Amino acid sequence: MRSSVWTFLYIAIALTQCPIMAKAAMEQSHSTSVAGMVKLVLLEAKLIENLSSYADELERRLNILKRAVPQLQAESNKAISQMEEYVSNPINGFSLIRRMNQDWNDWMLFMEDPVGSSQVAYVSSQKSQLPTNVDLIEACIAIYRLQRFYNLTVKDVSTGMLNGKKYDVSLNALDTYVLGREHHKHHTVDLAGEWFAETNSWLMEHTLSTPIGADREKMLHFFASAFFDYKYYSIALSLFDHALVLGKKTGDPALLNRRRDIEKLAREEVLAKTEPKADATNYGRGCRGEFVGISNLYCVYKFGTSPFLLLAPIKMEIRLLNPFIIVFHDVLSPREIDELQKLARPLLERTTVVKFKKYEKDSRRTSKGTWIERDHNNLTKRIERRITDMVELDLRYSEPFQVMNYGLGGHYAAHEDFLGDTWADKKEEDDRIATVLFYLTDVEQGGATVFTILNQAVSPKRGTALFWYNLHRNGTGDTRTLHGGCPVLVGSKWIMTLWIRERMQLFTRPCLKETT
Ligand SMILES: *[C@@H]1O[C@H](CO)[C@@H](O)[C@H](O)[C@H]1NC(C)=O
Ligand SMILES: *[C@@H]1O[C@H](CO)[C@@H](O)[C@H](O)[C@H]1NC(C)=O
Ligand SMILES: *[C@@H]1O[C@H](CO)[C@@H](O)[C@H](O)[C@H]1NC(C)=O
Ligand SMILES: *[C@@H]1O[C@H](CO)[C@@H](O)[C@H](O)[C@H]1NC(C)=O
Repeated sequence: MRSSVWTFLYIAIALTQCPIMAKAAMEQSHSTSVAGMVKLVLLEAKLIENLSSYADELERRLNILKRAVPQLQAESNKAISQMEEYVSNPINGFSLIRRMNQDWNDWMLFMEDPVGSSQVAYVSSQKSQLPTNVDLIEACIAIYRLQRFYNLTVKDVSTGMLNGKKYDVSLNALDTYVLGREHHKHHTVDLAGEWFAETNSWLMEHTLSTPIGADREKMLHFFASAFFDYKYYSIALSLFDHALVLGKKTGDPALLNRRRDIEKLAREEVLAKTEPKADATNYGRGCRGEFVGISNLYCVYKFGTSPFLLLAPIKMEIRLLNPFIIVFHDVLSPREIDELQKLARPLLERTTVVKFKKYEKDSRRTSKGTWIERDHNNLTKRIERRITDMVELDLRYSEPFQVMNYGLGGHYAAHEDFLGDTWADKKEEDDRIATVLFYLTDVEQGGATVFTILNQAVSPKRGTALFWYNLHRNGTGDTRTLHGGCPVLVGSKWIMTLWIRERMQLFTRPCLKETT
């Protein structure tokens, strides 16, 4: 009994500590794009389909056995009760010889034949598509980020209470256990305790169904043992007791001995109840909508002689005059947005940040994106013309459009868009003079663009565009434009960015009336 529990624990720990490793797979950064995670949903459905047909095959085989075994037993019982008399009959004797010669060979083949090898082959062919350990860790970090930015308790997250809104979703014991384990590993130990306590209370009410196939009692022992190892003795004790009662083993001396050891440690344990601290920086405050008095300065309509402006003047909301920040309303139509997303979706790749003149992946920027040339098709050309009408800058030397989709807790930590001395060649005046940021989707919760020094927060709204200058008139970077993309709490945030370069702007810049 004891040894089987330990064998089980060994397997269980191995399974839960090592999510299937994708051997030599390209890192796909699954969690960094909501659009990209759709692939996983589809894959999961296929895997379940295979598992279900695997179950059918098992059942078919089981049925064969269920029919055959009673017949075999009946004959064997007869033989056992009569022994010599049974075999003294030539019919019985012959039949016994034949059965033992042939049938057992067949049964052996039957038992050796692997069940569902085609399903196993399919699942193993999909291994490289499964999230890796890196994905899992990124997902854990994303949850922690959401907790800090939106002041969510462990209970909030595990019960789907997001920023005061209740969603019909929840985490199970393995989910909360893994979150606790990651916190424990990275020494944010107090929060690990909260997650483990949550795991405990879940287990008290539910039964896990996992590939480990353990019954409830073994499962409780497993978690008790894991929490013991992590030195959370009270939680371990609570689960251990539950397992004893469930298994009717409250009289088992060996188990009671172990219980006494755990209890002794639990008595000496000092538990501090902690919750993640809400991010207290201006960035965090902006993301939570704590900036007060950020109402727009005023709204104006921009008229003009270009075909687009004649058709429909643009509504401009002046957010700030110095530095100059505007929101343009309804500048992309739903149809245009659909087309942009369709174009970008298959091309999305993990975005990077500029580090030492190189583009690199970085946890400060978790999204997937793709570049689309401005002259890619009629749509992008039309949008380019519209931007010229909107901001009256020369776009000839700007960068291509970048379309992006954020993922689980996806964000872009506070940064400036200008490249400054680290990149631009000053003589060429080729820095990013201005940024146009289109919001392609509404975001249910989170995902605002926050200017941390200027105390401005702009929430994503499908079809609007945010514009600001990144440079002072003398061409140096305006550090007040420090801004970030807040973590997305609920929703799929799509944006499109255009960085307009400085070159050719000598005469055009004054056109948007700014006060600097
Ligand atoms: C496994 O799933 C794939 C994708 O849905 C399907 O094409 C295949 O037939 C399935 N294989 C078995 C044996 O069920
Ligand atoms: C975060 O939530 C706690 C309650 O859970 C509250 O006491 C605290 O003031 C909140 N912090 C912020 C910054 O909103
Ligand atoms: C793009 O616009 C041009 C000029 O208006 C037109 O001739 C062409 O058919 C358009 N292409 C597509 C694919 O719509
Ligand atoms: C450029 O202009 C800004 C704002 O007027 C000023 O703070 C900065 O010192 C200027 N830099 C140079 C190199 O002239």
